[in-house]
Amino acid sequence: MKTKIILDCDPGHDDMMAIMLAASSDELEILGITTVAGNQTGDKTFENARRVLTLIERKDIPLARGADKPIIRELITAPQIHGTSGLDGAELPGPDAPYLDCHAVDFIIDTVKTSPEKVTLVPTGPLTNIGLALIKAPEIKKNIKEIVLMGGAVYDSNMTPGAEFNIFVDPEAAREVFLCGLPVTMVGLDVTNKSLMSFAQAEEISGWGGKISSVVGPLMRFFAQANLDYFGINGAPIHDALTVATLINPAVVEFENYFVDVETRGELTRGQTVADVYGVTGKKPNCRVAMRVNNRLFMSIMMDAVKKLDARLAGAV
Ligand code: RIB
Ligand code: CA
Repeated sequence: MKTKIILDCDPGHDDMMAIMLAASSDELEILGITTVAGNQTGDKTFENARRVLTLIERKDIPLARGADKPIIRELITAPQIHGTSGLDGAELPGPDAPYLDCHAVDFIIDTVKTSPEKVTLVPTGPLTNIGLALIKAPEIKKNIKEIVLMGGAVYDSNMTPGAEFNIFVDPEAAREVFLCGLPVTMVGLDVTNKSLMSFAQAEEISGWGGKISSVVGPLMRFFAQANLDYFGINGAPIHDALTVATLINPAVVEFENYFVDVETRGELTRGQTVADVYGVTGKKPNCRVAMRVNNRLFMSIMMDAVKKLDARLAGAV
């Protein structure tokens, strides 16, 4: 039985890799893709999702645009990492993929309500759409299997010394999600900053000469260079694809169960995912937190996915 997912994303180089990995997997059924403002403005992340679906020839996947800003705060984007377009580094095809007129929040609500099996929500951007869906229609929780999100960290950060970007951008939405009572899996920077594609691997992919690899290689090289320049990280941390990979092969990470809350009022700590690693609060864990990654396994999953999409578009499978 395939795992039914809705991927909520802000493409974004690593969101693109998450879409590709999910689309290549026999284990997952993508019920839809929704977009949110984050890495770039809402119009750009939406257009990028359309471009990616056009590139991989999956215009059949339902697509809906979501929030252009966080629930109460002003939008903060990440052009220093993803560029002006949000997917700088290679030319993607025109945004030809069709899309639904409804808002992403309503798509999530309607799709979850009507699914014959429980749905797994996979957010890889700020949690605005997910938080709003849970606020607008809390009854959908009974048909959500789990929420497997890219965001946060226990011991790492990338936006302030205490916070990760997705949670920092919309901490109120994030708190709604972490405290909603559903099983939450947090794939945070503790593992994703170690899920690196090397410059050499990006060059190897570029050399494959396929329709997908010819775009993925240069995009990953751009993403790796931006992370090296900005954080000193020597490679492309494919945060969002690792999150999807945990649904395909759970051996790719190891989890710990913690109670996690989200700071929404701190001046220095806005958006920090505060994990009770020693159980000092006495609160029951609400979150499976990925704390160790098998990057060799993850990279083999990722490289195989690109090869599979190359072959599929070449008519080989
Ligand atoms: O902090 C990394 C996360 O923020 C990733 O999901 C990246 O795409 C951005 O959304
Ligand atoms: Ca993202």
